[in-house]
Amino acid sequence: ADLYGAERKNSAGVDLTDAELMQKLAQEITAAASVAATSGPIIGGVEKVGKAEDIRNPAKTSEVVGKVVQASQADVDDAISRASRAFADWSATPAATRAACLDKAADLMESRRAELLALCIREAGKTIGDAIAELREAVDFCRYYAARARADFGAPLMLPGPTGERNQLMLQGRGVFACISPWNFPLAIFMGQVSAALVAGNCVIAKPAEQTPLIAAAAVKILHQAGVPGDVLHLLPGDGPNVGAPLTRDPRIAGVAFTGSTDTARLINRTLAAKDGPIVPLIAETGGQNAMIVDSSALPEQVVRDVLISSFQSAGQRCSALRVLFVQQDIGHKLEEMLSGAMAELRVGDPSRLKTDIGPVIDAEAKSVLEAHVQRMDREGKLIYRTKLNGAAGEGHFFAPAAYRIDGLNRLQREVFGPVLHVIHYAADKLDDVLNSINATGYGLTLGIHSRIDGKVKYIAERLRVGNAYVNRNMIGAVVGVQPFGGEGLSGTGPKAGGPHYLHRFATERTLTIDT
Ligand code: SER
Repeated sequence: ADLYGAERKNSAGVDLTDAELMQKLAQEITAAASVAATSGPIIGGVEKVGKAEDIRNPAKTSEVVGKVVQASQADVDDAISRASRAFADWSATPAATRAACLDKAADLMESRRAELLALCIREAGKTIGDAIAELREAVDFCRYYAARARADFGAPLMLPGPTGERNQLMLQGRGVFACISPWNFPLAIFMGQVSAALVAGNCVIAKPAEQTPLIAAAAVKILHQAGVPGDVLHLLPGDGPNVGAPLTRDPRIAGVAFTGSTDTARLINRTLAAKDGPIVPLIAETGGQNAMIVDSSALPEQVVRDVLISSFQSAGQRCSALRVLFVQQDIGHKLEEMLSGAMAELRVGDPSRLKTDIGPVIDAEAKSVLEAHVQRMDREGKLIYRTKLNGAAGEGHFFAPAAYRIDGLNRLQREVFGPVLHVIHYAADKLDDVLNSINATGYGLTLGIHSRIDGKVKYIAERLRVGNAYVNRNMIGAVVGVQPFGGEGLSGTGPKAGGPHYLHRFATERTLTIDT
């Protein structure tokens, strides 16, 4: 079997430096933006119509991107009933047939590129570059999990036994999986969870984030078109109390995949633990208090470039984003000066324009949480630089990137989910204190190291408990099958998305012994 995917290639993506191609793509996206988008409960392959609410563009709130019909409690029950009945046949469907649906869905996503990019931009406020990366990741997840399923779920693993006995180990679906996904990767993480659960032999009830049901509905329709039966995959748009809670409480749910906040993961865990019936596994990918450590041997220009990408790309709305930069004090002031110069060049604004670096944050609530945080930082820290909005504000949820010097990690209790960087200077002989303070946060998602001293890199990497460490580069944008992604501790349960062991956690193992 192709265990590490060496024979498999990720999608080619788009060459962002090809100006002509990018112009053409931008035009296609503009044309596709007029396509009416809807989302409603999709149950048994049929989209429910009814009283709809507007979904607005976070970059321009007067613009309605589409309409959503929220799922009711009766819809939750109906979807679970149908999925439960469909499970036996789907689970018995050959893995190769299920994998073929994912490959087909990947092809369909590529062929509907402009429409999906337009939705990522208009519903989630993604820049064109981020939207391209998002679509590519969604496509790669589908093809990668299809390949993994063919390798691991196709034929049983034959095990030794005495003469006259045949032993085999099989991976099979667990039942009905609830997939609860976030707004920050409304296509990639949505598709990642759902495609993994499906190809492992589960039926799926997907609950997308309230902010991004339209992209989710497009993804579900594509999966159905690609051959996933209507009763095997259902979509339930809605919020946590009305959809997430009854879904996770239901005794017929056999597993939950969740990406979002640590608090919500705890809530789901408690819900699952409190109910009668089988013990239900939770796969959770949550937040981080991600640090980068820069020593005085690092190349400052490269550090600044990588800090900018890691902290501010996607308006800092990535769980992998850099939040706390530890810089050796000898170079601290110089680095802050260079960082300020670079932050002055960032262009915040309309994400559908090619020249925009940073689009809006997702909604008014996200913006007000960030505003409250910078107000506190204005009192407790020292402002290094705040990028100018230059008129971008308008009617969008724009928030200017900011960098503050703070005196210690204990100033930050929670993850700040946006473009705010915190800088701490450390003395060269206090590196161990830095490492201890990072481990003490309890989070363990991403880490950046900038140093040209190999021994130091090794020392740091061996001591920090994080899922994804990046040395002398930026620390976001894990690539499917190349940098399996996911953290530990407060950052999640594993397994790693886009890694060779991901599907196993969506499956149950069964041993069959036959006396021949
Ligand atoms: N997988 C994304 C990244 O690596 C974060 O969710 O940036």
